[in-house]
Amino acid sequence: MPDSSTYDDALREIHIAQASTALPGPDYYTVLSWVHQILRPATYVEIGIRHGDSLRAALPDTKCIGIDPEPTLEGTLPPDTRVFAMTSDSFFESYNLAEILDARNFSLAFIDGLHLFEQALLDFIHLERFAARQSIVMIHDSLPLDLTTSDRVRTTHFYSGDVWKLALCLKARRKDLRLTTIRTGPTGLCLISRLDPHSEVLLRNFDELVTEYVSLDFRDYENRGHQMPDTVENSFAAVQSCIASLLQDA
Ligand SMILES: C[S@@+](CC[C@H](N)C(=O)[O-])C[C@H]1O[C@@H](n2cnc3c(N)ncnc32)[C@H](O)[C@@H]1O
Repeated sequence: MPDSSTYDDALREIHIAQASTALPGPDYYTVLSWVHQILRPATYVEIGIRHGDSLRAALPDTKCIGIDPEPTLEGTLPPDTRVFAMTSDSFFESYNLAEILDARNFSLAFIDGLHLFEQALLDFIHLERFAARQSIVMIHDSLPLDLTTSDRVRTTHFYSGDVWKLALCLKARRKDLRLTTIRTGPTGLCLISRLDPHSEVLLRNFDELVTEYVSLDFRDYENRGHQMPDTVENSFAAVQSCIASLLQDA
């Protein structure tokens, strides 16, 4: 993988401009803070916290868990936060999330760790074991910008990886889930409800799914728009009604 010092700074500005044209309006940090305000989750789990910028969207009363092998925290985190400096795989191998949260289920979770399809899928599988019917999982980067920035090998500052395939995969292979993507920049935020901690479909078919989806690229994303989750605009009202319908009859 090319060293990040070789990434083109000018290209980053071009990608940012393209993304803000494609997905104008409030960015995902703003949308995350709306989700927290609307749901007021008792517990929140974030995989991939980096500087803590997205974790800071959580409310002071929410019990937060952050997981990241190399957190580089800047600023203060919500008061009831525990950071686990390890990969998500190590966390789920070493700990029982329910014990850490002191609750059987998490209320809200955000997958934003290693930006490869198979890892995001595994993160989803791990989290779902601790989900309740009213829990919501969010996946970052579900609306990729282009071929280069959604490649599995990172060569650019602006980068989403191939995590968008998780939204495609869940829509196709887990008809029991409800998925909606918020059109927020830079690369979308997909919300998932109706989680089932007893479902084994993904784990049972893990190798087959990885083989099938890893081979796709951005051209498949462009051709399969109709197979991706429905989208809603990035306004507070739209996010509020999206969450209401995600949780309806859950
Ligand atoms: C894109 S950054 C997260 C950004 C943050 N959520 C935000 O919105 O400000 C991705 C983070 O995932 C972390 N990461 C990489 N591999 C991981 C893994 N296997 N498990 C958990 N986190 C991982 C990286 O260290 C990095 O800090």
